[in-house]
Amino acid sequence: PGRQSYNIALIPGDGIGIEVIHAGQVVLQHLARCLDTFDLKFEEFEWSSAYYKKHGRYLPDDALDQVRKFNAILFGAVGAPDVPDHISLWGLRLALCQPLQQYANVRPTRILRGTTSPLSNCARGDLDWVIVRENSEGEYAGHGGTSHINQEWSVATEVSIFTQHGCERIMRFAFSTAQSRPRKKLTVVTKSNAQRNGMVFWDHVAAKVAKEFPDVEWDKMLVDAMTTRMVLKPSSIDTIVATNLHADILSDLAAALAGSIGIAPTSNLDPTRKNPSMFEPIHGSAFDITGLGVANPVATFWTSAEMLRWLGQAEAAELLMLAVENVTEGGIKTQDLGGKSKTVEVTEAVCKEIEKLA
Ligand code: NAI
Ligand code: MG
Repeated sequence: PGRQSYNIALIPGDGIGIEVIHAGQVVLQHLARCLDTFDLKFEEFEWSSAYYKKHGRYLPDDALDQVRKFNAILFGAVGAPDVPDHISLWGLRLALCQPLQQYANVRPTRILRGTTSPLSNCARGDLDWVIVRENSEGEYAGHGGTSHINQEWSVATEVSIFTQHGCERIMRFAFSTAQSRPRKKLTVVTKSNAQRNGMVFWDHVAAKVAKEFPDVEWDKMLVDAMTTRMVLKPSSIDTIVATNLHADILSDLAAALAGSIGIAPTSNLDPTRKNPSMFEPIHGSAFDITGLGVANPVATFWTSAEMLRWLGQAEAAELLMLAVENVTEGGIKTQDLGGKSKTVEVTEAVCKEIEKLA
């Protein structure tokens, strides 16, 4: 069989997004060169807060048509100190994820070799989770409005949307993710005691879809109780499915429990593969460290591995993660992991390790 070639759209965005995506590109290019089993072609897009300040919008009209031509999108982060966060998030990230039907947001979390959890009760193997986040509706459906602006009685609504189609497809994806993992366990996170319409519906769909997966052991947990379980009994958890908002919060907690937000990857998947999927580190643009050269590139490397896995290059993905963990274990780590290395030093070390392993 001939060498596979993939076209990757790079959207570095803002702040450290630019620094880590360029580190990711270096490592991916090096990996492709060393392995000789696939090719990557990159095209970079300047869509960002700087672009917004120049053009008054984050994306041009034909942005979706442009990115649809790619096999995958590698995204950095969006957010600038002088642009309100809801403008940047809706203008760029959600403006891509939602129309591209990337309805499953997948966030693996585990403790890498050479790093530690802040939990004293948690050894490396005790925390190995995949969080599946509903990524197309729920609390972030965009339903709502503001009336009586600037009056004393001004009012705003933010309505959560739970559809049969949206809930069913994410539950089916979560159950099959759980089924593909050795422990075959799924926890459905809910808040149906308080939110007696949308969340009761969510639970109902979970119970219905569960019947299609008799070999998956599943349980249901209120989101508040889930936070304590993640801290106190991390090894009791395997795969988690939660709504857009709940999973957003739980996955930041998960990243911190695994050591740092600077290592955590995420995939925005269209499981039907009609549209390209988008891969990004969980973290934001981190104004506080932008330009210092200390951003941890590991989240982007792990994200890149997830992208390769999705594209069908599982062996390359494994090798990349092996290289990354050899480097963290060797103590070449950025300051967020307690190390002293710079972004470029970690990047170069991972490239060297790839050479050794390839
Ligand atoms: P953040 O993730 O940018 O930073 C939170 C803290 O973690 C900071 O102290 C930062 O220095 C540290 N940190 C983050 N990534 C790191 C890395 N790779 N290496 C080392 N340290 C790292 O979140 P914050 O400060 O709440 O948001 C900053 C901006 O980013 C905002 O405009 C926000 O809206 C945006 N944002 C964008 C996201 C996206 O594009 N998906 C996700 C989260 C935030
Ligand atoms: Mg978040």
